[in-house]
Amino acid sequence: MTAKIIDGNAVSAALREGLAARVAKLKAEGGPTPGLAVVLVGSDPASQVYVKSKQKRAGEVGMNSFEHLFPETASEAELLAKVDELNADPKVHGILVQLPLPKQIDADKVLERIDPAKDVDGFHPVNVGRLATGGPALVSCTPLGCLILLKRELGDLAGKRAVVVGRSNIVGKPMAQLLLRESATVVIAHSKTRDLPAECRQADILVAAVGRPEMIKGDWIKPGATVIDVGINRVPGAEPGKTKLVGDVAFAEAVEVAGAITPVPGGVGPMTIAVLLRNTLEACCRQHGLPFEEIL
Ligand code: GUN
Repeated sequence: MTAKIIDGNAVSAALREGLAARVAKLKAEGGPTPGLAVVLVGSDPASQVYVKSKQKRAGEVGMNSFEHLFPETASEAELLAKVDELNADPKVHGILVQLPLPKQIDADKVLERIDPAKDVDGFHPVNVGRLATGGPALVSCTPLGCLILLKRELGDLAGKRAVVVGRSNIVGKPMAQLLLRESATVVIAHSKTRDLPAECRQADILVAAVGRPEMIKGDWIKPGATVIDVGINRVPGAEPGKTKLVGDVAFAEAVEVAGAITPVPGGVGPMTIAVLLRNTLEACCRQHGLPFEEIL
């Protein structure tokens, strides 16, 4: 059997189209223009690429984006002052502080300073807590993107056995909470899990978020399972000096066993920015007391 390839680019484009229509309608009705502020400290090339692409995509759906750049040497106090300013700015509905931050800055302190209503990354403990207790939360973008892909693929997730490999605060833990909210039976596996292959083989839904290239092998996958690969790992390519991107799942093997699978690149990756914009619209609507309806 060869798995269906889940096209994250297509789903991301559909989500962004839906967002553009909502933003246009909001503006036509005299409502607010959703605004996203991105704070970048230092000149890490990967972070610069992410931030540029977040801004470009925000513009494409009709949102305002505001960039705030700081040198690598910026102090924690400067950053906290910027967060306070953005919290108070009514044009800014979402605030994203790009991670990682330089070591002189306590990232948790900065993230906790963001108004939870503007926390479009869903990293603030208030949003993490609300996700766990079932309240209205802004949810971390990558796991919410994975959930959108899963629901489009499988419909109702109730009763399905989901195994999340990885327990990070950004992906593994919120992913497990989202799956639990959908009434899946959820296992969080990690580096200390005994017999990880056997655990994975039980999964109707397998989410790989470990950051280890091609760790999850084809024979760890239950035939017909839906596999979501969150990993983005750069490894040496076929030609000397060249590199390529691979996921946490050994794709060539897994595609022969799974029912459906996300590729790397072109699976989960493109969903993250689309969900960031979705979260910005949700934050904007809630701040203005307007209804927010799910797009996909
Ligand atoms: N750095 C890499 N991914 C992310 C993300 O999703 N949010 C933030 N704030 N920083 C990141």
